[in-house]
Amino acid sequence: MCAIICENTDFFAIFAIVFADFENMMDFNTIERFDKIATPFYYYDMDLFRKTVDHVAELASQHNLKVHYAIKANVERRLLEYISSKGFGADCVSGNEVLHAHDCGFPGGKIVYAGVGKSDKEIYNALMLDIEAFNCESLQEIYVINEMAHRYGKKANVSVRINPDIDAHTHKYVTTGLYENKFGISQHEFEKLIEIIGKSEHINFIGLHFHVGSQITRVSEVFALECKRVNEIVAYFERNGLKVGNINLGGGLGVDYDDPDGSPIADFETWFRTISENIVRRPDQKVHVEPGRSLVAQCATLISRVLFVKSGETKNFLIMDAGMNDLIRPALYGAYHKIENLSAEMRTFFPTHQAYDIVGPVCESSDVWGAGRLLPLSVRGDLMAIRSTGAYGQVMASRYNMKDLAPSVFSDRLDEAPVMTDYFE
Ligand code: LLP
Repeated sequence: MCAIICENTDFFAIFAIVFADFENMMDFNTIERFDKIATPFYYYDMDLFRKTVDHVAELASQHNLKVHYAIKANVERRLLEYISSKGFGADCVSGNEVLHAHDCGFPGGKIVYAGVGKSDKEIYNALMLDIEAFNCESLQEIYVINEMAHRYGKKANVSVRINPDIDAHTHKYVTTGLYENKFGISQHEFEKLIEIIGKSEHINFIGLHFHVGSQITRVSEVFALECKRVNEIVAYFERNGLKVGNINLGGGLGVDYDDPDGSPIADFETWFRTISENIVRRPDQKVHVEPGRSLVAQCATLISRVLFVKSGETKNFLIMDAGMNDLIRPALYGAYHKIENLSAEMRTFFPTHQAYDIVGPVCESSDVWGAGRLLPLSVRGDLMAIRSTGAYGQVMASRYNMKDLAPSVFSDRLDEAPVMTDYFE
């Protein structure tokens, strides 16, 4: 959307750029209200959030799929309460996530619990809630859960996470279904697995769990492949005497980080259609999906202020008050987030653009939001929007450098936002 406007740029090009700027920004009223709020903060567009969840609920019922929201993406209570109120389940990866999901309205019977390293305390708490399934990731874990269930007079529902050995064609840190990954149980242990399940009297074997990776954009290709592999594996286990009642296909649907306004809701249609067309299921077999990112990424924006504009010898730096402590994705994965200068877009219809290295305040050279980004001329105090930050943003934030955690501000409760103090008064 941004471009340098030079003297010979023709009128239509300028018009197109300006129009694109306005199409993409939040409404003026909201931006004016941001001016009074202390930055940085995570701004939640609650209309978009509810629209996304409602859309997914409707599509899932059309395709007869059960949705478990992967709460690791965002554990904000208001979001969880809405998602649980729609009848979705929760996919958790720690004991605290299980307890929090339960506290936010997910009944134990709709909570599944994955993760390669569950501690005894975490297993105990989940056992007490009679959760829908422990998604077990190793043979030893099944053994320990069976023992603990016995000790506490429970029968634990167990699903087994299988490593399907599939390339999700995504960032190597979020590919999880390849043979050498730490997740799930791989083919060489299948026979032993069947034997252990057969011998474990204090577990109910309910099904199989898969998850091949995250931010998958080659949706039909990767998920069709996953379904085909899953069909083979389910058939293998059933042939060997294990009834697979639940097939959990995991999450992974990607979102559009380049154009959040063009694609505010991820392509759930293609994902669900691909599953319907490729999964082999009996009428009594339930098929689960576990979207995390795709349910929440686009509904939040990290709002920050420009603290200083610094001219280097060859570059201009915008130094923001939000840093890698607030959102670690760019520093950790080299992830791209679209950045907009909201104040500059309010100031003028025809902004001049310039390339900036946009950086945070943290004492690490990797604390960079974006290098060489074209933005309207920016000044101290400008409000900046870092887009698509609803997933793996706040949950991965830290207090590194003893920074405060950026709070949540909701579009329908702007009055409750923390007020900006003017130190120059
Ligand atoms: N199910 C399981 C077993 C998972 O491990 C994950 C994510 C999901 C579901 C949800 O996947 P999603 O729909 O969100 O792609 N921090 C990284 C993403 C890590 C994803 C971990 N597992 C990031 O910021 O990109």
